[in-house]
Amino acid sequence: MIRTSLTERLGINYPIIQAPMASATTPDMVIAASEAGALGSLGAAYMAPDEIRASIRKIRQATKRPFQVNLFAPQKRYTLTNDEIDQANRPLRSIRAELGLADRNSAPEYKDRFANQLQVLLDEEISIVGFHFGLPDTEDLDKVKASGAVLIGCATQVSDAVALDKAGVDFVVAQGFEAGGHQGTFHSEEEPSMIGLMALIPQIVDAVSVPVIGAGGLMDGRGLAAALALGASAGQLGTAFLASPESRAHDVHKRLLLDGAQDGTRITRAFSGRPARGLINRMMDEIDALPNQILPFPYQHSLTTEIRSVAGEQKRSDFLSMWAGQGAKMVRNLSTGEIVNALGVELERALEERSYE
Ligand SMILES: Cc1cc2nc3c(=O)[nH]c(=O)nc-3n(C[C@H](O)[C@H](O)[C@H](O)COP(=O)(O)O)c2cc1C
Repeated sequence: MIRTSLTERLGINYPIIQAPMASATTPDMVIAASEAGALGSLGAAYMAPDEIRASIRKIRQATKRPFQVNLFAPQKRYTLTNDEIDQANRPLRSIRAELGLADRNSAPEYKDRFANQLQVLLDEEISIVGFHFGLPDTEDLDKVKASGAVLIGCATQVSDAVALDKAGVDFVVAQGFEAGGHQGTFHSEEEPSMIGLMALIPQIVDAVSVPVIGAGGLMDGRGLAAALALGASAGQLGTAFLASPESRAHDVHKRLLLDGAQDGTRITRAFSGRPARGLINRMMDEIDALPNQILPFPYQHSLTTEIRSVAGEQKRSDFLSMWAGQGAKMVRNLSTGEIVNALGVELERALEERSYE
């Protein structure tokens, strides 16, 4: 048991958050992480409202411990021109052909499920609510605050953290450049934020009035201890859990992480239109080479959905989005519960030893 302002407020044993990961976290992962003494988090952004409700109920049946549900804040709508749609489809043509898919040039869909997703969280009286890509509008935010839920927002730069603090969040995630998956940046959404976690945590700690959660590249107790030493009240880890049996990441993705054969991760906009870090593959190389032909989020995400899904069916790692942080080579072949247990022991040891090489 390690006490910080976050463990006290949330009633958890370790200052460890299993990160919400849209498309990868499952009820089983959340249950295992929370039962082991961390904060389990369901990344529900890509889930239909009914699936979110069923997942929440499944989690509650299996554990009485606290857990978080996380959504993407609603995104700007754009009116895309035919020319923009055509330009964005052009580099995807050869990829579709390689996968045996028909060519297409239709406008990508904007799935607007936020209001219904949020309503499920409110109906189910979720006690810890997180948002990525900024916050929803004041009306929705007030509903979450009125529900009494603890509110978590994500910042990749100091100005975003200050904006979240002013808007009344209870905790700010300081997400460093090392982080796997989408950057939570919301002021300059198409530009990757380049600040590493070591520089970001203390700057955000100094700038905001609420406790800070460090995220990005944390893979074991040493990293967690470093985040706490820099002033964070907890560490949030995503990649560390991605290859666990409870993760919904594709088997090909898990295998590459566990083999540790792939060295490089990079920030890309190829798959979704927003900067996100993943294992480098051909799709990134080909699409990132034409940055002006990438549509904004979530249109690029819609445009590449079929490709990613069929690439998954065909076990083609070259066209899958395989999110991973810079600590990818440190992924362990353990279950979610075992990872939390190992992190807890390592963190306790790192905090006790305090000896330096
Ligand atoms: C596959 C994947 C999906 C993610 N999806 C979300 C998400 O839905 N919401 C969110 O707030 N953060 C999301 N993140 C970011 C994590 O919350 C966290 O910032 C990141 O994983 C920390 O870096 P690490 O992967 O190096 O541990 C995602 C990360 C990954 C790897």
